Amino acid sequence: MSHVKIAVFPVAGLGTRFLPATKSVPKEMLPLIDRPLIEYAMDEAREAGIEEFVFVTSGGKSALENHFGAAPELERRLRSGGKTDALAAIERSRLPEGALSFVRQEVPRGLGHAVGLARRLVGNRPFAVMLPDDVIDAPRGCLRQMVEAHAVHGGHMVAAMEVPQEAVRAYGILDVAEETARLARARGLVEKPDPALAPSRLAVVGRYLLEPSIFDRLANAVPGAGGEIQLTDAINADARRVPVHGLRFEGERFDCGSVPGYLEATVAFALKRADLGSDLARTLRQRLAGAPRAAA
Ligand code: G1P
Repeated sequence: MSHVKIAVFPVAGLGTRFLPATKSVPKEMLPLIDRPLIEYAMDEAREAGIEEFVFVTSGGKSALENHFGAAPELERRLRSGGKTDALAAIERSRLPEGALSFVRQEVPRGLGHAVGLARRLVGNRPFAVMLPDDVIDAPRGCLRQMVEAHAVHGGHMVAAMEVPQEAVRAYGILDVAEETARLARARGLVEKPDPALAPSRLAVVGRYLLEPSIFDRLANAVPGAGGEIQLTDAINADARRVPVHGLRFEGERFDCGSVPGYLEATVAFALKRADLGSDLARTLRQRLAGAPRAAA
C-alpha cells in the first residue's frame, strides 16, 4: 500500500509551443496516438497507488474536466452498437466520483504558485506532483519507483536524469552531495542555471514527491527564473530541514511539451503497439529510403 495518496497535476499552461492546435484544446488533451497526454500521467499515478487527483487549471480547460467524467449518451450508443473495445477505452479514463478536484490558477505565476494553490486539498500529507508534458515509458511506472524509494528515505524526492551540459538551462538541476545506486542526495537545486555555473548535469524531470512543509516555503516564495514562482526554489529553500533526493528512474522520458519530443514519443509508442508497430516500421523504412508510399 502506498503512503502517498494524492497527486497534483499542474495543467494551467497555455500550450504556446503547440499553437494553433492548443487554441481551444488544452495541450494535455493532445493525443499521443489515441489517448490524450493526461491519461498517461493518470495511469502512472494510479499504478503508484494515488487515489485523489487535483488539477490546477486555468480558463478554457473544460475539455479536461469532461474527459474524466461520465458520458452517458456516448456510452449508451457504444453499448447498443456492440462497440465493446471503444466502450472499454472510455471507461478506462473514468475516475470514481469525488476522486478528482479542480483548483483555478487565475494568473500564470509559475509552477510553484500552481502547486501552492493545492494546499487546502492536500493538507498535511506527503503528495505527488506530476507534469503531464513529461511522458515516461517505463516497465514499472516512474512514480511507483519513487514512492517505493520515498517509503524508505522520506523528504522531498524528484525524478532525475542526466542531460547534456547545454540543456541544463531548460531544467531544475541538482547540486549532488552523494550518490548511492540510483539515488542522489542533493544539497540543493537550482532552476534553469547557466550551463557554465550549473552544479551538475542531473536534471529534474516532471515527477515530485513532496512533504507538506513545501507549502510554507511556497507561501514565502519570491519570483525566480523567468520571473515565476519556481517549485525548484521552494524545494531548495527546504533542503536544510528536509532531505532532498533525486531518483534516477528506470525508463525513458519524452518531453511532450515540445513538438520534436511529442513527435518522437508518438513514433516510439506506436512502434511498440502490437496493432501499429510493424506497419509503421515498414512505412518509416520506405520513407527513409526515399521510396514512394506503397498503395494501400
Ligand atoms: C519545469 C520545472 C523544471 C523541470 C522541468 C521538467 O520546467 O520548473 O525544474 O526540470 O519542468 O520538465 P518547465 O519545463 O516548465 O520550464
